[in-house]
Amino acid sequence: MHPGWLFGLALTVSCSGPARPEETASQPERWDEQIALPLAEDLSADPNVLEVMLDAHLEQLELQEGVLTEMWTYNGGVPGPLLRAKQGDRLIVHFSNHLPEPTTIHWHGVRVPAEMDGSHAVQNPVQPGETFTYSFVLPDAGTFWYHPHINSAAQVGYGLYGPIVVDDPASPIVADDLVLVLSDVSLEEDGQLASSDESGWFGDYFGREGALVLMNGKARPTLKMRAGIPQRWRVINAARTRFFELVLPTAQVTRIGGDAGLIETPQDQASMLLATSERGEWLVTVPDSSVGRTYATFGDGDRFGLGFPSEQLPIIDVEVLGSEGAQPYPVPSQLRPFAELDLANLPVRQIELGEQLVDDVTYLAINGEVHQEGDHAGAHTHVAYVGDTEIWEVLNATEFAHPFHLHGFAFEILDLGGAPWPVREWKDSVNIPPGEVLRFVVSYDDRPGLWMFHCHILDHAELGMMAVLEVRPQDEKPSAHENH
Ligand code: C2O
Ligand code: CU
Repeated sequence: MHPGWLFGLALTVSCSGPARPEETASQPERWDEQIALPLAEDLSADPNVLEVMLDAHLEQLELQEGVLTEMWTYNGGVPGPLLRAKQGDRLIVHFSNHLPEPTTIHWHGVRVPAEMDGSHAVQNPVQPGETFTYSFVLPDAGTFWYHPHINSAAQVGYGLYGPIVVDDPASPIVADDLVLVLSDVSLEEDGQLASSDESGWFGDYFGREGALVLMNGKARPTLKMRAGIPQRWRVINAARTRFFELVLPTAQVTRIGGDAGLIETPQDQASMLLATSERGEWLVTVPDSSVGRTYATFGDGDRFGLGFPSEQLPIIDVEVLGSEGAQPYPVPSQLRPFAELDLANLPVRQIELGEQLVDDVTYLAINGEVHQEGDHAGAHTHVAYVGDTEIWEVLNATEFAHPFHLHGFAFEILDLGGAPWPVREWKDSVNIPPGEVLRFVVSYDDRPGLWMFHCHILDHAELGMMAVLEVRPQDEKPSAHENH
């Protein structure tokens, strides 16, 4: 093949990022056509604005061959369309709700102003037939996602979620980019959605995992890979409860990104593990010895602390083509600079994820408080101030795992279960195994308002494991004198 032809092909299939050097080969022709998600149409002529319509409505989708399932969708697809912009762009979303119930959209991991955050603490739900316009700047490059924040266990479980990719035009990574959204859905025998509260309290307490696992909304799509040439997989776990551990046997798997963009240095890993709502970016390279057909598999992360890995089942069929002598572009040893952390004299905020008995029913709670969506959002037990930096110490006092999520502010993990976190990176969601303590450091930039934090097993959030952090302007901070 003529290298110039390969170059041209690379330009047509890769969405963005730095120009590919001519000497590197691309992926096989139509490598991602069965799996790639549609892009939302940009209505704005301004190159620095992504302006899209999102319409939430019910739609018949063929998730399984020959069976139509009525799903809850954004723009008729599950997942919703890919929102792709570059760092610093403004995102404008004209949202309309054609669902049978109220909803909102939360921009998970994006550092939006509080009033754009979509949680019930900051926004009145968008009623059926009504519209709302979200508009904010995308300050960070990375892989994020969007989903409802009202009755979210049900609405996410029914199919409402979609990916956001914010590109850094100066990214040091050169590789073909693939956005992969993992989820699952629970169907009745007739192929229709099972009720979101099936098995009642037990479903909430143990979390509901749908038996049909979806990769970009499909049961087992096919992907083509060129041996020796990395693909950049941006993986999002959008399931309401399920954890995913992806394995591509024989592949070299190097983590380069996390919840909010690149990590400090590349990390070689045996598998790709994501608790619900976490994101990861990996360079995935298959060797020449894998040419032919193989498949990527998934297992469950260890939510109940049993200590052994679960069974691995196929999730993507992979067709591997020969390398034809192609040379991958080298991965830099440092991906992103991080400033020195100064932890001296930082205040420590103590949070306990636990259980609480109310009228003989066991709820899940944060510091003993059970939060329900209908609760008045003004009852703020957790207060912080703009400009401050704090350490959070979050204890999981229960017997199963909880992926902890903080809205609005990315944090850096210091340690988990006493073990130092292996790499510097920005996180907004992290799994805390049973009995363990997570410590992270967070700074509040100038976005005062009400920010939720909760377990991202949405069934657990529903059972009360949510709370609100009120970030107040610095000038409202009581002085040391007033404290006495
Ligand atoms: Cu992904 Cu509070 O949300
Ligand atoms: Cu939980």
